[in-house]
Amino acid sequence: MELLRYDPSGALIDETGLAASDLESVAPRLTAARDEVLADAQLWQSGSEVPEKKQPLDAGFIHLPERLLKAFRADPADSEVGQIIATASRLANSVGRVVVLGIGGSYMGARALLEACCHPYYNQLDRDMRHGRPQIFFEGHNVDNNGTQGLIDLLRAGSGTTKSGTTEISDRWAIVVISKSGATLETAVAFRQLLAELRTACGDDPQALAERVVPVTGPAGRLFDLSAALGCPDRFNIPDGVGGRFSILTSVGLLPAALMGLDIVKLLEGAAAMNEHFRTAPPGENGVLDFTAVGHLMEERRGANIRVLSTWGRRLEAVGLWYDQLLAESLGKQQRGATPLTVVNTRDLHSRGQQHQEGRRDKLITNLIVDHADRPPLGVGHSQLDHDQLNALSEKTLPDILTAAIAGTNRAYRDDGRPTADLHLPRLDEYVLGQLFQMLMLATAVEGRLIDVNPYGQPGVEAYKRHMNAYLRGEE
Ligand code: PA5
Repeated sequence: MELLRYDPSGALIDETGLAASDLESVAPRLTAARDEVLADAQLWQSGSEVPEKKQPLDAGFIHLPERLLKAFRADPADSEVGQIIATASRLANSVGRVVVLGIGGSYMGARALLEACCHPYYNQLDRDMRHGRPQIFFEGHNVDNNGTQGLIDLLRAGSGTTKSGTTEISDRWAIVVISKSGATLETAVAFRQLLAELRTACGDDPQALAERVVPVTGPAGRLFDLSAALGCPDRFNIPDGVGGRFSILTSVGLLPAALMGLDIVKLLEGAAAMNEHFRTAPPGENGVLDFTAVGHLMEERRGANIRVLSTWGRRLEAVGLWYDQLLAESLGKQQRGATPLTVVNTRDLHSRGQQHQEGRRDKLITNLIVDHADRPPLGVGHSQLDHDQLNALSEKTLPDILTAAIAGTNRAYRDDGRPTADLHLPRLDEYVLGQLFQMLMLATAVEGRLIDVNPYGQPGVEAYKRHMNAYLRGEE
């Protein structure tokens, strides 16, 4: 099956970019960093003691796709993947709407999957057009008095009963609550509020309530205890050794993906294919290592510490936001780490484009391009009213216009010595997305080892939580 392709040629520019020899000279350091990342994975898997310098070591995401696939092939029904698929089907057959609660790594991946793989108006489609899958709403990723009440309005409006006293399936709803620690305030508060709503919607029936709540959490903690008290029949574990932002291919991302009707086995197969490529391809032919090398060298040699992920088409915006978190939270430590910035083009050519073309030379622009549209190209069309002068383009299609926009923008950047690189996705499906997620997680781990920053853990996030809690409890 086809792999995504990284093309750094737009970054090979004398004076403002890199030389091919730069990439060759960094190759030994990159292979050493790859070896270290793979050794980290072995160390984590062996269960041996982790040296203090390496702690925390959340390298469990690396071999996870192969591990889940192996278990699924050995026992399709009882494996974790099989149970995720079964729970998603149970919910899809019993409710029309699911609220997914979570924040950060417990939220971004599911949203990325929905936006990338599902219909652009997924929630607005009728149930048949969603192939019987539920509408998906995200909450618990903010503190938003209006937002939460707006969702409650929506859920209540649909919770009517029919004349015979039964509730229509499209009106019934459920909660998937995702929190590894089980103690994140934003998610915990939203869960408490929505659980009270759901209890009412279930007519105070404890069994119906328990069946409509699916927790995804660590092996212990407040959410674990709460879901045990509720008696939830299905609960999924986020394994130790997989950090939040590295958890998209655990039940954190897989359960919402299965709810949307996505093929989660294909997601895992794509990730496993990327692992194989990462392990075996040499620098110069290895997408993970080459992507890491260009970002690192542009920062080190050219001071380009802003990494713009230029997504072409809005379906990839949330993938970009997922990556923003991954890079920022993993490497933004010890006053180091590049700053990620996701843009959606051509939309943002009309907002940020000016700065990217003529502003400071502190950016590397990586285009994220889908090579083949999954729907037939939509033509501009001929019109008798040619006041817009578009009849000259009547034979062109939206993909033609996008291709011209990408080429034209890259050309304009090159003419001004602005380095770019292209990441080509052959298609936008589960298999390719699995590759992309795994590639970006591996690249982040490799870069951390390359610059001697532990990519795992996020000690800086604790500071705001401490102060927020102290203010809430009147201690500050
Ligand atoms: O990457 C991370 O670890 C974080 O972004 C977490 O995912 C986020 O803080 C949510 O944590 P939890 O899943 O414990 O609620």
